[in-house]
Amino acid sequence: MIFNQLKFYFYLFIYSKLKHTKLMTQNMKSPNNGFLGNIAKYLMLSFNKFVINDSVKKLNIQKNDTIIEIGSGNGQAIDKMLRLTNKKITSIEVSEKFRSELIKKFKNKNVTFFSNDAKDLNNIIKKNSFDKLLAVNVVYFLNPIAAYANEFYRILKTDGKGLLACKFDGIKKFNDSTAPNKNLNDIIKVFEHAGFKVNTEFVDSNNEQEKYHAIFIRKVQNDKQ
Ligand SMILES: C[S@@+](CC[C@H](N)C(=O)[O-])C[C@H]1O[C@@H](n2cnc3c(N)ncnc32)[C@H](O)[C@@H]1O
Repeated sequence: MIFNQLKFYFYLFIYSKLKHTKLMTQNMKSPNNGFLGNIAKYLMLSFNKFVINDSVKKLNIQKNDTIIEIGSGNGQAIDKMLRLTNKKITSIEVSEKFRSELIKKFKNKNVTFFSNDAKDLNNIIKKNSFDKLLAVNVVYFLNPIAAYANEFYRILKTDGKGLLACKFDGIKKFNDSTAPNKNLNDIIKVFEHAGFKVNTEFVDSNNEQEKYHAIFIRKVQNDKQ
């Protein structure tokens, strides 16, 4: 117990000193197998628990919903969503470290993992496939974000809904070249341009790790289809 607390504070200290660096931001984007990758993975487990639980609730999942999650990380959202839908969940996870652990953790569960970059899922996912899309702490890293917005539009069904959860306060010191999307209004414009109706909600909290913006996207029919 005390060892775990010491480990947490030690990791937090290193993270606070390095989070502006390209290397630490890259590990927050997609952890590698080294020391910083372990720190990123460990901190995400506790930092993101509230936001993940709250986002899954806000996504209002129904028993028949087909769901895709972009950037499943430690799999905390998958755990919740498996209890809410009867359909197979699709998880896109580019980090080999995360993916290999997810595959072990969810062996024999109704979820399929893909290693593809979410920018182009054409070879694995047909258009109009999903009712719901979830991406928690992912949007900052997507580059160019317009390509991802177009792909999310393609794979969602008409009237399909997505929730992009973003902790903009927590990531403002992240390295800009690895995490270029830090501005809520710019992100909204990109998703509107891709054809989504966009709404946002700010979830406030005294706990820095629990504050976040929920960006709701809904695919509306347009002349692209
Ligand atoms: C900060 S982690 C968040 C993980 C988890 N959603 C959470 O909140 O704890 C970012 C996640 O996005 C994934 N990711 C980053 N860039 C991606 C891309 N281009 N396509 C798909 N996934 C990506 C990473 O592998 C990682 O799982």
